[in-house]
Amino acid sequence: MGFPDNFLWGGAVAAHQLEGAWNEDGRGPSICDVLTGGAAGVARKITDGVVEGLNYPNHRGIDYYHTFREDDMLFQEMGFKCFRTSISWSRVFPNGDEEEPNEAGLKFYEELFKDYRAKGMEPVVTLSHFEMPLHLAKLGGFTNRKVVDCFVKFATTVMERYKDLVTYWLTFNEVDNQMNMHTPIFPYTNSGIIPNPDDDPHTVEQKVWQAIHNEFVAAALTVKQGREINPDFRIGCMLSFVPIYPETCRPDDVMLAQTEMRNRYLFGDVYVHGEYPRYLWKRWEREGIDIHMEPGDLDVIKEGIVDFISLSYYMSVAVSSQGSKLDAMEHGLDGLVPNPYIKATDWGWQIDPVGLRYSLCEMYERWNKPLFIVENGVGMYETPDADGYIADDSRIEYLKSHIEEVRKAIDLDGVPVMGYTVWGCIDVVSFTTGEMKKRYGLIYVDGDDEGHGSYKRSRKKSFYWYKKVIETNGEEL
Ligand code: BG6
Repeated sequence: MGFPDNFLWGGAVAAHQLEGAWNEDGRGPSICDVLTGGAAGVARKITDGVVEGLNYPNHRGIDYYHTFREDDMLFQEMGFKCFRTSISWSRVFPNGDEEEPNEAGLKFYEELFKDYRAKGMEPVVTLSHFEMPLHLAKLGGFTNRKVVDCFVKFATTVMERYKDLVTYWLTFNEVDNQMNMHTPIFPYTNSGIIPNPDDDPHTVEQKVWQAIHNEFVAAALTVKQGREINPDFRIGCMLSFVPIYPETCRPDDVMLAQTEMRNRYLFGDVYVHGEYPRYLWKRWEREGIDIHMEPGDLDVIKEGIVDFISLSYYMSVAVSSQGSKLDAMEHGLDGLVPNPYIKATDWGWQIDPVGLRYSLCEMYERWNKPLFIVENGVGMYETPDADGYIADDSRIEYLKSHIEEVRKAIDLDGVPVMGYTVWGCIDVVSFTTGEMKKRYGLIYVDGDDEGHGSYKRSRKKSFYWYKKVIETNGEEL
């Protein structure tokens, strides 16, 4: 009973949030390099190119590009069995549509993955974590079919190069975020769709659906070609899983929650069943969405079924058929209401460990594929004490309560869970706000939102706690 012996404990990050070195060694600008810093409730701006004098936190990250060997020693010290990061697409293809890759970019990841292996950590690699080359976004991002070819070329180039170093691959990070279609950062970061103030809501929806279709084709081609490169690869999708509860047992609330859950389910449904679900065809018909499909697309989607499903889990939400009581910016849901039974973080993310077990059961019983929790964690304001130490007991409590629910899903519900990686195992730049002060790390990084500080690393209390969790394979929480 308990966690299986080969359970992949570890940590997760994404290239754009920690590497920095945004214009070194031939790297081209990516969509994240023109995102300014924001704050809780203050949206990041997408600028037209890099504007002198504005703050672009992803340019700095935490400088991991130069410090990875020392940082990896800290992860090794915690006993990580795996480490999840992404490959910055524009390090390898600076504009995205070159004939030949940038050797310096490829070399960097080769060194990085070798370092993980040397330190006993299995690399888990995301191919697209909000890092499209800016040039491709200017061509329309994934609304442009050409970008499918560019992505597949990028994916096959890196899978070929690292075929003996990497086994676990994830295609598009949190591909379902963009179902929040009218909050520009999500279609932008998922699909490289630059917001156009002249677009009416229907045009935006049409664009996002087209991009989603093209991404399904790109993901399926990646799975198919990846299997040819190395049949031992394990290739998964990546979903942001936020369960949506009905506020009450009022039948209309229950129906609304089910309808809105489809915004999450549809991705897994396609990745696993290899076809668009009937509810989606109906929706497209009803909403006048007309998707351009090339001959053979639906066959490709059928052939490119994933090996496993990876997910991020941070929170749950609730909806009411009687109208919204919350700003839907984060989720884009109709009828969003607070859940009075659970608390929220300072950024309004509702903490719900039981929701993780519930999600694992829902996902496994619907899709019958192994699950890999590749993000879970909590963003907090933190200041070191006089000795430079952070006793982050509430983070420990958050992680402990979630891991306990994972264990129940394994032990009581029979869900096959492959692994668990803490999001932002070292403090990194926040995705939604661009802040450093929204900290997730088990390791503190002395840097602020404007890039001031020594960037020195120090172990938080949770560092020692997680080390013990891994040492005891989850027995001691
Ligand atoms: C997920 C992303 O949305 O959640 C990460 O995959 C992100 O990139 C993480 O950092 C936490 O979100 P945030 O906005 O708090 O950094």
